[in-house]
Parts: sequence; structure tokens; C-alpha cells
Amino acid sequence: MTSTGKRASLDKLPEEVASMFDDVAPRYDVVNDILSLGQTRRWRKVVFDAVGAKPGQRVLDLAAGTGTSAEPYADAGIEVVACDFSLGMLRVGKRRRPDIDFVAGDATNLPFADNAFDAATISFGLRNVTDPHAALREMLRVTKPGGKLVIAEFSSPVNPLWRTMYLEYLMRALPEVARRASSNPDAYIYLAESIRAWPDQDHLAAWLADAGWESVAYRNLSGGIVAVHRATKPGQAPVHSGPVGKIRRARRAAG
Ligand SMILES: C[S@@+](CC[C@H](N)C(=O)[O-])C[C@H]1O[C@@H](n2cnc3c(N)ncnc32)[C@H](O)[C@@H]1O
Repeated sequence: MTSTGKRASLDKLPEEVASMFDDVAPRYDVVNDILSLGQTRRWRKVVFDAVGAKPGQRVLDLAAGTGTSAEPYADAGIEVVACDFSLGMLRVGKRRRPDIDFVAGDATNLPFADNAFDAATISFGLRNVTDPHAALREMLRVTKPGGKLVIAEFSSPVNPLWRTMYLEYLMRALPEVARRASSNPDAYIYLAESIRAWPDQDHLAAWLADAGWESVAYRNLSGGIVAVHRATKPGQAPVHSGPVGKIRRARRAAG
């Protein structure tokens, strides 16, 4: 995995990304569970705890896809808005969870007012946004002062041996599993490549600070296969705040 943050040959137009997710929508959650060897449930619990939202608060789940990442909030009686620009993903989500508020919107130009949410979160979606810096700024705009941002994204395994094994799995096994289980295996090849090209933990932490977020920290999951970043919007804190857990302060990345 590189830490360059380069999107290079992976650059896709926003319409191409949306249409790719439209294609994989019907089997997205099943394939996801297979590819992550069932780890997604544990990762999602960590994200939910880091957001630390309480009933009465309003959470934005951006790039929510079929709404799987929004479900824990709805299940806990927390108002959650699941926003995504793939109508195919939203349709599958709405059919599955009619109780969740699904909203079509582009992460780089959100259809919400300033300070509209107590917290914003994005799971396995920031990497797919064509301009992730703009998305980080938009999430800052729509979050209340003192409100939280929590990002779950594939990252860079810390242990060199684990990293080699993971990259091997990513580039060989994952496309093969996807070929058998998904209607659009090319989409999963793109996803595997986009994971390799995504910036590492410290680099992403620096992007958050550059966008205006403060108190940036992250926690590695599954040895760094996934990192959960968290930050706060400058300003007065809301009444509720979540557990700090094992999250540690991020070092600012060089370059
Ligand atoms: C891998 S899925 C993640 C879905 C869900 N958050 C989850 O955890 O299962 C990534 C999602 O990002 C969405 N996405 C990519 N770029 C976007 C953008 N610019 N605006 C809104 N959604 C976007 C895609 O449509 C897709 O549904």
C-alpha cells in the first residue's frame, strides 16, 4: 500500500463511480461480508461507538450506500440521514430499511444546511469520492461546532509481514472471490486497486486537519487493514460526547 494519496489511473468521473455502485448494489452487502471475512460487523461497531451519538441527536452517514453503515443508529433510536449519490444503492437500501431517511446527494456538494448535524460519519466511502478534500470540507460545513467526524476506511497494515499477506490477498484472492460472487467483478478490481492507492493513516489525518477539523486521532483495526479516524469541528462542544476508547492522537504526516 502506498502513502502517496495519488489517485492516478484510478481517477473516475463521479458519474462512473455512481454507475459502478448502481451495478453492484443488489449483491453489495453479501459480497462485502465475504470479502472482509465477516469483519465488517466488528468494524461498524467501533465506528458507532466512536460517533457516540445519543437519541435526540442527528447523524449524517455519508456515502451510505445500501444503508448498512446507517443501520446501527436507526436501531438505537438515533435520527440518521443516509446520503449517497448512487440511486441504485439507495433503492436497495430503502427497500431493505424503509424506516431510514435516504437522501440522494453528492459528498462534494451536500444538500444540507450549515451546522445541520451533531455528527458526520463515512464508512468505506471517502476513498471512492472523486475529490475527498471537498467532501471533508462539506462534512465540516454541515456539522455543528463541537460536533464529531468519524471515518472508517481501508488503510495501511502496520506489520510488514501482515501487510505483504494482505496485499497478496487484496490483489489476487479478492478479485477472484468477487468474480464468483458479484455481478460486476471489474468494480471489485477497481476497489482493490483504490485501496492500494489510498493514503496511509497519518496522511489521511493530515488531510482532516487541512480541511479544518481539529483533535484529529485514529485507531487501527485488524492490524491497520482499516483505520477509524475521528475529529471534532472547532467550536463549542455539544452536550453528549462518545468514548475515547483506544483511539490515539495522530502524528501529522510529512509531505
Ligand atoms: C463501498 S460503498 C460504502 C457504503 C456504506 N457506507 C457501507 O459502509 O457499506 C461506497 C459508497 O460511496 C458512494 N459514493 C462515492 N462517491 C460519492 C459521492 N461523491 N457522493 C456520494 N456518495 C458517493 C458510492 O455510491 C457507494 O455507495
